[in-house]
Amino acid sequence: MESVTGADLYAQALARLPVAQVAAAAAAVGAEVYLVGGPVRDLLMGRPLVDIDLATDAAPEALAHELGLPFAAATRFGTLNVTDSGFRYDIARTRSERYRRPGALPEVQPADIQADLRRRDFTVNAMALGLAGPRTGELLTVPGALRDLEQRRLSVLHDQSFRDDPTRLLRLARYCARLRFEPTAHTRDLVTEAVAAGALRTISGPRLGNELRLLSTESDPLMAFSAVADLGLPWRISDQPAARRALSALPDDGRSDLLTLACVFAAQFDAGGESSLRAELDRLGFTSTDRETIEQILTRAGGLAKRLDVARSPAEIAAAVGSSVIETVAMAAALGSGAQAQTWLNQLRQLRLQISGDDLIACGLSEGPAIGRALAAARAALLDGEATDRETQLRAALTAAS
Ligand code: CTP
Repeated sequence: MESVTGADLYAQALARLPVAQVAAAAAAVGAEVYLVGGPVRDLLMGRPLVDIDLATDAAPEALAHELGLPFAAATRFGTLNVTDSGFRYDIARTRSERYRRPGALPEVQPADIQADLRRRDFTVNAMALGLAGPRTGELLTVPGALRDLEQRRLSVLHDQSFRDDPTRLLRLARYCARLRFEPTAHTRDLVTEAVAAGALRTISGPRLGNELRLLSTESDPLMAFSAVADLGLPWRISDQPAARRALSALPDDGRSDLLTLACVFAAQFDAGGESSLRAELDRLGFTSTDRETIEQILTRAGGLAKRLDVARSPAEIAAAVGSSVIETVAMAAALGSGAQAQTWLNQLRQLRLQISGDDLIACGLSEGPAIGRALAAARAALLDGEATDRETQLRAALTAAS
């Protein structure tokens, strides 16, 4: 195990993280505490920090309690996840892991920080910075970690790594895209072997789904899925240009993750239809709302693109869109000429009627379907720019009802 002076890194950590509070809390419970994994790598790379992953030889609850963090129940592996003052803390007991069979969740037991680093996925994640205890200010790494970081390489720690935990195959793609790192030739060979040996079939659908969902929330999700395909993993966006057009048409309040996943599952939908897609999304542990959005994008966007291309007025655009979610409209923008879909996404969908059925009843209309028809007429006038205020909308509705 390499042990290099981490004085500079410690100074950076002091400036960017609540290290003093952590040290005081650790002293109160007599604990060793380390910053571990992603945040150490990101500190070394000068990247922004969001997560504070801490490993301690004490009970995580005792440390969290001393830190005054509002923690809830620990995860299965005894890790506490807490969000406080803009930071996400992950506090875990330093531990070693043993995999009873490939793809199983590991059995864990308390161990020292060196063993904790050796259980990790890639060398560049197997680093720790002492924040409290006898190794305060020391940077601990597995062999080769700093060289790999410098040379922007991703390397597993041992040959069994992907067989033990095949989620690492997808984690690898995520880091390739996010950090713009390359796997070493040996790690790439191990990916190929693990995939050929069916490693991905040894993990549960929801764990696999979780990794796909994490890939889809990366800042460049298309690059993340390109990395997946480059590694020979069985997910691919076949029409990249359309996916890029769809994502760029999607407004900020849209779900770019679900739009990306729809592009990923397009091939499955084309080959097996809606029922096969639904079964796959269920197997992967998607919530029913997210699954329905992905299904809607894939089942409706093609037809919507055709209808939008022949819509001649704003009211016709609105009628074509109907109840489609904005992710479906963005996909339609990518599949058709795009102009009408953009008009909907950037302008028309924001328009709101300033009158309601109650206003029409107050004007003497009786309750019933006529109210719906009158409101529809007012809405069409609003969309076409003929009734932009309350008064003209009321007039349009009452004219339609007379
Ligand atoms: N880890 C692992 N194998 C996994 C999952 C996680 O070895 N299947 C280890 C990695 O060393 C990782 C750490 O556990 O650094 C924490 O995992 P996670 O929170 O997912 O990653 P971070 O490092 O916090 O985050 P980032 O995605 O920024 O790297």
